[in-house]
Amino acid sequence: MSGSTVYVGMSADLVHPGHLNVINTAARLGEVTVGLLTDAAIASYKRLPYMEFDQRRVVVESIKGVSRVVPQETLDYVPNLRKYQPDYVVHGDDWKEGVQVKVRQAVIEALAEWGGELVEVPYTEGISSTQLNKALREIGTTPDLRRNKMRRLLKAKPLARLMEVHNGLTGLIVEHVGVDTDKGRQEFDGMWASSLTESTAKGKPDIEAVDVTSRTNTLHDVLEVTTKPIVYDADTGGKIEHFQFTVRTLERLGVSVAIIEDKVGLKKNSLFGNEVHQTQDTIEHFCEKIQAGKAAQVTEEFMIVARIESLILDRGMDDAVTRAAAYIDAGSDGVLIHSRQSTPDEVFEFCDRFANLPKQVPLFVVPSSYNQVTEDELIERGVNVVIYANHLLRAAYPAMLNTAKSILQHGRSKETDAKLLTIREILELVPGTK
Ligand code: SPV
Ligand code: MG
Repeated sequence: MSGSTVYVGMSADLVHPGHLNVINTAARLGEVTVGLLTDAAIASYKRLPYMEFDQRRVVVESIKGVSRVVPQETLDYVPNLRKYQPDYVVHGDDWKEGVQVKVRQAVIEALAEWGGELVEVPYTEGISSTQLNKALREIGTTPDLRRNKMRRLLKAKPLARLMEVHNGLTGLIVEHVGVDTDKGRQEFDGMWASSLTESTAKGKPDIEAVDVTSRTNTLHDVLEVTTKPIVYDADTGGKIEHFQFTVRTLERLGVSVAIIEDKVGLKKNSLFGNEVHQTQDTIEHFCEKIQAGKAAQVTEEFMIVARIESLILDRGMDDAVTRAAAYIDAGSDGVLIHSRQSTPDEVFEFCDRFANLPKQVPLFVVPSSYNQVTEDELIERGVNVVIYANHLLRAAYPAMLNTAKSILQHGRSKETDAKLLTIREILELVPGTK
């Protein structure tokens, strides 16, 4: 064994005896280099790790038998393997199935280039990161951890995907729903606390009639049952003096981002455009609001994002781009460009011009009306966050209405029953009901 080198790739977010088993085997074969997957490498195929890279590095460096820790920037081992040319790679044998099958094959082929060998350690029964993840989710999170997650996501993923929430139940859906695809597991990265869906769920118009205290109560419901980051739709932000209090309230709760739109007076939903009377704020006044918000925040991580309504109000592309530059100069941590067109053309044009601005910040979009646009196309244009702003409520309402009508029509509920959750399913839906 003397003189042999061994490479072990791992995420090491929740270190358990299975990891130590792999490292012990590796240490018996030679000098161990751990290729520690970066946040971006992990986020490319599963959810963001709980601990940041530097925290995970400190843990792994302290494990007996580990000689050094190097970053592994991709799920693919090959770049690091070619660089370090180890005699052995050691890995748990669980990657023979699932999303890592191709990764494993590439490792075997790369090792063959210099006569290296793959050693697989039998999977340690009775403990897995998946189980630990589940347990951690049950324990929950803290405001500090959650608040910081949005900035980490922006660094780790080309596009963060948000879905609207308007109560605890929708929070649970966004927290847990996922599908396995050939690109790995797909999940929502965070939640959009939409003013439209929350107002509508309360039976009120989307005109800032639901006050911040009431919105905060809904946030509490969502926060209590989720761990993913929250982006809060702060409407116009209200008066500058009031917005400063909102910022601190959101920060304290662990919300990551407040988005304010550059309108004044009685706010109406953007998707009406000029069908209703809406007034855009002046650049100067809106910049003051951004600055006041930034001055009020206590933590470094909280973000204030400026939402530009120029395209919504037919003020033109030049106005939109001018405002983006001004808002960024005023300290905005991101820009949301909204559009109510039926195609993404004007948003794409904005993206191209935005990319030429001297100072870059994350770009958010809300493709409600131009829903044919794909996430891959948004990534190509440099968009960083996509918001599905109203879809859960829009799905739920017709289903509820049809059920109500069916019961009225038939004088009983039997006819609609097959479309509903079963009684058993609703009893088991929320953990702890039994
Ligand atoms: C919301 O979801 O409340 C929004 C997006 O602000 S939009 O409804 O398109 O204005
Ligand atoms: Mg809104």
